[in-house]
Amino acid sequence: MASLTGQRVLLCVCGGIAAYKAVELVRRLRDAGALVRVAMTEGAQHFVGTASFQAVSGEPVRTSLWDAAAEAAMGHIELARWADRILVAPATADTLAKLAHGFADDLVTTLCLATTAPMTVAPAMNHRMWLHPATRANLALLRERGVQVIGPVDGPLAEGESGPGRLSEPEDIVAVLARSAGAHAGDLAGLRLVVSAGPTYEDLDPVRYVGNRSSGKMGFAIAAAAARRGAEVMLVAGPVSLATPAGVTRIDVRSAAQLRDAVLAALPADAYIGAAAVADYAPRAVAGNKIKKSSDTLTLELVRTPDTLAEVAASPSRPRCVVGFAAETEEVEAHARGKLQKKNLDLIAANRVGVQGSGFESDDNALTVYSRDGARALGPAPKIRLADELLDLIAERLRA
Ligand code: CTP
Repeated sequence: MASLTGQRVLLCVCGGIAAYKAVELVRRLRDAGALVRVAMTEGAQHFVGTASFQAVSGEPVRTSLWDAAAEAAMGHIELARWADRILVAPATADTLAKLAHGFADDLVTTLCLATTAPMTVAPAMNHRMWLHPATRANLALLRERGVQVIGPVDGPLAEGESGPGRLSEPEDIVAVLARSAGAHAGDLAGLRLVVSAGPTYEDLDPVRYVGNRSSGKMGFAIAAAAARRGAEVMLVAGPVSLATPAGVTRIDVRSAAQLRDAVLAALPADAYIGAAAVADYAPRAVAGNKIKKSSDTLTLELVRTPDTLAEVAASPSRPRCVVGFAAETEEVEAHARGKLQKKNLDLIAANRVGVQGSGFESDDNALTVYSRDGARALGPAPKIRLADELLDLIAERLRA
């Protein structure tokens, strides 16, 4: 099994019956080589005493923001900075809600807000709470920001019921952490990536625009994964309602012209990843007042927008790796390779259409990534996983 040697893990334990398993989790983390410090919510202390965690971690356990002696030894901001990774386990529905919305009303939530370290949550709760739309939405928000979610698993629950809600086994949590730490830990440190994401809106008049259905999820997942892996990330985002991933600098734009200006201003960079679905045409002129209906038909005159991707690839400060996206419905390979050549790209990621559950608004996707000398099929998989796989290909090129 991969190890966590030297990793400083701050384990935040929340109040649920699964809190007792967190004692075993500390032991397993230490066996894998991690240095572990423990913070507990007030609820957690109703299930397990601090002495147990103190004994297994070999470190003082923190329980309150208002403990003057503990603060004097290591302030909570210092503790948040100490961590290479924050692991919230068990993560209750309440704490997940607080984390999703940025609350900082106790020690654990304050630590989670005050850190820039990557975060992993291992939820455990009653299965109805787990399946509640509020919890689903909170989890989706946390995932968007790049938070890693482990479990829960299906099985018997504390109240004699059964369903999804059991804390993953401590050894499984440690195995997942060790795998992700080993695979990607800081491998993009020192690199600067510019990522574009989402649709563009081309205004017709003060109330109407020409747009498209891109959700921005793929580009945001790439930005989140790159930041998690240590890169400096500039995210140029079209109009989407997605949370900014941790550690990412975001610039919001609306039109293709604004996207071009923002992307070019963000250069130089080591890589540009053009995941935005940029409008190819925009109205020739934006009407100053709302266009009134008059005749039975209306003809709009549209003109080509600047091609940001091609411009980046032709720029004097061309990144070493320029990556485009292509949404094709037929002759995927021929069209994608044509764009790779014409726009002078290093890689082009073509959506494999017709794969169930993939595409614009979905959380999953399937891509084929073409380069001049090859092709790699990625997925179908959650966009978050695909993002890491695409970054692996980019990292390979940047290292070559
Ligand atoms: N792109 C861009 N600026 C544009 C249009 C597209 O930067 N004005 C980028 C997109 O971010 C994406 C790629 O180019 O990375 C898409 O290429 P494009 O030629 O527009 O392909 P499609 O959108 O698939 O459209 P079509 O096949 O109609 O050309």
